[in-house]
Amino acid sequence: MRITFKLIVSLIMVVVFVAIVSAWFNVRQEEVKLYEDVLSRSALLAETFKESIRNNLTAKNYTSMQRLADKFQSQKQLEGVAVYDSAGIRIVSSSALTPVLAVNKEAVETLLKNGQDEPVTYPMADKKMFLYPLSVALEGGERARIILFTNVSYIDYDLFKIWKRTLIRLLAQMILISLVTLLIIRWNLVDPIIQMAEWMKNLRIGDAHGHVPPIKGDIFAPIAHEATTLATNLQAARRAAQNEARLRQKGESLWTPERLKEHIKAKMDGRQLFVVSNREPYMHIKEGKEIRTIIPAGGLVTALDPILKAAGGTWVAHGSGEADFEVTDDKNRIKVPPEEPAYTLRRVPLSKEEEDGYYYGFANEGIWPLCHIAHIRPIFRKEDWKYYYEVNQKFAQTVLEEIEAVKEPCVLIQDYHFTLLPGMIKAARPDARVAVFWHIPWPNPETFGICPWQKELIMGLLGADLIGFQTQFYCNNFLDTVDRTMESRINWEHFSVQKEGHITMVKPFPISVDFQQPERDAKALSQKPDPATVLKELGIKAEKIGVGVDRIDYTKGMLERVKAVERFLEKYPGYVKKFSFIQLGAPSRTHIPQYHKFLAELHAEVDRINWKFKAKDWKAIVFLEKHHDHKEITKFYKIADVCMVTSLHDGMNLVAKEFVAASDDHRGVLILSRFAGASRELQDALIVNPYDIEQMADAIYYSLTMPKTEVEDRMTRMRQDIHENNIYKWAANLTEELMKLRMDDFKLTSV
Ligand code: G6P
Repeated sequence: MRITFKLIVSLIMVVVFVAIVSAWFNVRQEEVKLYEDVLSRSALLAETFKESIRNNLTAKNYTSMQRLADKFQSQKQLEGVAVYDSAGIRIVSSSALTPVLAVNKEAVETLLKNGQDEPVTYPMADKKMFLYPLSVALEGGERARIILFTNVSYIDYDLFKIWKRTLIRLLAQMILISLVTLLIIRWNLVDPIIQMAEWMKNLRIGDAHGHVPPIKGDIFAPIAHEATTLATNLQAARRAAQNEARLRQKGESLWTPERLKEHIKAKMDGRQLFVVSNREPYMHIKEGKEIRTIIPAGGLVTALDPILKAAGGTWVAHGSGEADFEVTDDKNRIKVPPEEPAYTLRRVPLSKEEEDGYYYGFANEGIWPLCHIAHIRPIFRKEDWKYYYEVNQKFAQTVLEEIEAVKEPCVLIQDYHFTLLPGMIKAARPDARVAVFWHIPWPNPETFGICPWQKELIMGLLGADLIGFQTQFYCNNFLDTVDRTMESRINWEHFSVQKEGHITMVKPFPISVDFQQPERDAKALSQKPDPATVLKELGIKAEKIGVGVDRIDYTKGMLERVKAVERFLEKYPGYVKKFSFIQLGAPSRTHIPQYHKFLAELHAEVDRINWKFKAKDWKAIVFLEKHHDHKEITKFYKIADVCMVTSLHDGMNLVAKEFVAASDDHRGVLILSRFAGASRELQDALIVNPYDIEQMADAIYYSLTMPKTEVEDRMTRMRQDIHENNIYKWAANLTEELMKLRMDDFKLTSV
């Protein structure tokens, strides 16, 4: 109220000041104008009078002069006229004026003494009189003076009226301004603040509906933004606490971000995590003049970002976005995620040659096809190996810088890009606890043996204290490979390798997703995903929808998948114009010829199939080749009747788990390749062999005709599994296992 009062008083003061100043100017102008009128009227009359007076004075005809003077009285405001000789003696004056002049001599005397023909205003007989003098030259050098007397009291009265009018108008304006200000404040500030307070109260007592505060608009936008984030966080925290409480009651315990944070604090003695990967979790790209952040596609980022968000720490990765180094500090560091910074991203710059040799060449044309049985020949070039080695060294240098001041740091290295890194870090920092997680499959020893540098790769990996794989099967393959490649002591009971006095534990840690993420994504969507609306945006109509979400990679079985859709429509023609398959594909590793070829083949195949079934307002396959963010992907998961994950070979394939996590209404069927790591856990999916097109076509049919209760039962079981075995549990297991290793004692006793 005080602010309102102050605001109104200030406004009124300003308005009063402006009004008084402008009124003063008005009055001044009017006054000048009125006096000018009187002056010009007096001048005219005096001139008219002048000649007759001169003649009469010369003729000494006083009677005629008196008549003339009387004619000039009581006309409008003219009170009369008087004529004085050169000695200042009144010769004649209008009769009505004579008594006034007898009493008020002072004014006339002053004027006559002065000798100038300057008009003056003087108070006379309760009136304000305007005296206009005019000299009349007579014969013999004599000079008579005529004075015209005009009553100008009316001017003061007129000016008073102007002041009065202005003040009344001012009063009305003040009342109006106060009222309007009060109303504006009420509508635009007080009411929203009251609503906001009510909303916050409801939020506090857990009764708020949704995350969107009731205030909007320009001035409230920053508060609304913060309040939305606050509400989202509060509700998430509340849900997590409720979940915890519920599970505690049941004697079980779900892994949540909060719990992981506590766990890492306790197990790691307050130390932070250091994660290393090639792919960064946030990439800064340019869109025109703007810099935009994107989250790159791929399971690794999907899985690890929630962990760092929960536990904090530093993530070292290749800065591959074109605007990446425009936003980092002088140490190439930046806090991420941009909207709610939780951990540090340290970007490593690579030259084009380094990126070509290490990333495109050795990692993705060599190790990637080597480890995935997708019948693509690995290519190993000596030049690529050189860059691979040097980039591993460059990353080692960066990691050593980051962990310099940390005692017994905990370093989690990711994937096939960094097989040499564990050995390099351990050589410089034997006190560091180093784990490697291998996200992709590990092939059998014969296959791995193709690599000319297999010994170096394995030696590098054995620098780690712990190596994690997605499945037990890959652990076995790895130990077999070590066994065949070099002299070492392998403990098949504890699953460890001893080489040159150092022990490496080998264990499966099936990676997972943040179970709550799709729920958050769905809430962030502006509207609830509706199949008809989404299809309309794509320009088609259909009754049933299939969805596939992949990085465009030859290992993902996308060609086989579209062929299965074709076969399904051939075999079950009733679904033509009723079933559409939407494939989201994020472009990936586009500079590698195999990926180019694969993409072209995929486009050709989709075109061929669409042409074959061409119909109005419908398409068999919609191929959306672009980068989609989490929110967009969730929209497609939520409208899908069936999701197809048909990798030819895959470490895990987190798309399968993301789809299940997104199905909070327990609808949707998952078709899953038996060659994806996820098939070991998600037994309620329809497990298929992606090379068997007939089987996949039947699986589509089965998924669309499956009884609703069976769909729900299968989905419920899969959700239960991912709910419990989420990404936080994965991180907790991995870090716990790493911290459990009593490094020195272990070396002596355990093998
Ligand atoms: C797989 C790999 C990851 C990689 C991701 C995306 O999931 O295991 O290490 O980050 O694909 O591939 P990209 O080459 O884009 O990093």
